[in-house]
Amino acid sequence: MREWIAGAEVGDDGYGEDPSVLALEALSARMLGKPAALLLPSGTMANLVAILLHSPRGSRALVGDQSDLWCWEGGGAAAFGGVTCQPIATQASGELSLRDLEHALEDRERENVAAASLVCLENTHCRSGGRALRLGYLAELSRFAEARGLAVHMDGARLFNAAAAGTGDIAAISRHATTVSFCLSKGLGAPAGSLLVGSAADIAQARRLRRALGGGMRQAGFLAAAGLYALQHGVERLGEDHANARSLAAGLKRVPGLQLLQDSPETNIVFFRVPGSPGATTAFIAGMAGEGIRLAELGKGWIRAVLHRDVSAADVERVLAAVRRVAPGLPVAVPPHAVVGWRV
Ligand SMILES: Cc1ncc(COP(=O)(O)O)c(C=O)c1O
Repeated sequence: MREWIAGAEVGDDGYGEDPSVLALEALSARMLGKPAALLLPSGTMANLVAILLHSPRGSRALVGDQSDLWCWEGGGAAAFGGVTCQPIATQASGELSLRDLEHALEDRERENVAAASLVCLENTHCRSGGRALRLGYLAELSRFAEARGLAVHMDGARLFNAAAAGTGDIAAISRHATTVSFCLSKGLGAPAGSLLVGSAADIAQARRLRRALGGGMRQAGFLAAAGLYALQHGVERLGEDHANARSLAAGLKRVPGLQLLQDSPETNIVFFRVPGSPGATTAFIAGMAGEGIRLAELGKGWIRAVLHRDVSAADVERVLAAVRRVAPGLPVAVPPHAVVGWRV
């Protein structure tokens, strides 16, 4: 990847003249089966541009209450677009039920209710343990939205993991959303960059919005070259990360007291909790850091481990050996009822 970056052909993308960016955008659009694509610096900006694109000021976007967009993107839709995000309960599968969406839309014709413009999905869904949304669900959701005049944006930060989990090919998944974003970073291993993909008209407008948000880049071909490498060399190997995630989960399951969100993860994310008093999570993470392994607590005691191209099957064994050393020394256990629940 570094060789591709060093050798990248570049131009000024502000004028649409960077050949590497144009090649990356064309490849992304082709892979997702949509007419056009736009390179942005981050997944957060791709989601924000999508919301601004589909939602007039004063309107309402329905978003998952466990989505990255709602939890961790700084409230950008309200701050920069005057768009209200309405959080909808997330199912354990990562899906938003049509019943809950219908309920949220009940009064949408009333003048004192913010008009609804958009439904946002996350695929794979990180906080539910990297779950891939079912193709049948996506088809239903898309019909539901279309019948109500709503756009659908899919935050596919880990879209390629969803496809690698066998839920459908990339284009089949993307077909059910008006716009789709995906990250070149994360499992695909590029240093930065996300693509927003959709119709030619939507992407032309997204380009204006990106500019207004300060996301236009000049000789971005260096970044695009990393993205081109990621799409050509990073996609086919994602199954290895999923297999490593399953091995990690199987090993963690054998450590007394550890609690997994899912016994067999679908993609590259493993969530688990450690037994013990409230300080046990912090003590565990510190203990693992002492072993040279970095883990993050992602809310309410759940620890997230993410598998990617730089973590091998041998590394998973090393992690499990460290867990077996660290876990027994944790502060004393609390009653089991206090640690049950999938939400993270
Ligand atoms: C599902 C999801 N969407 C969006 C983002 C934001 O991406 P970025 O960090 O590139 O802004 C993340 C980041 O982890 C994510 O997990």
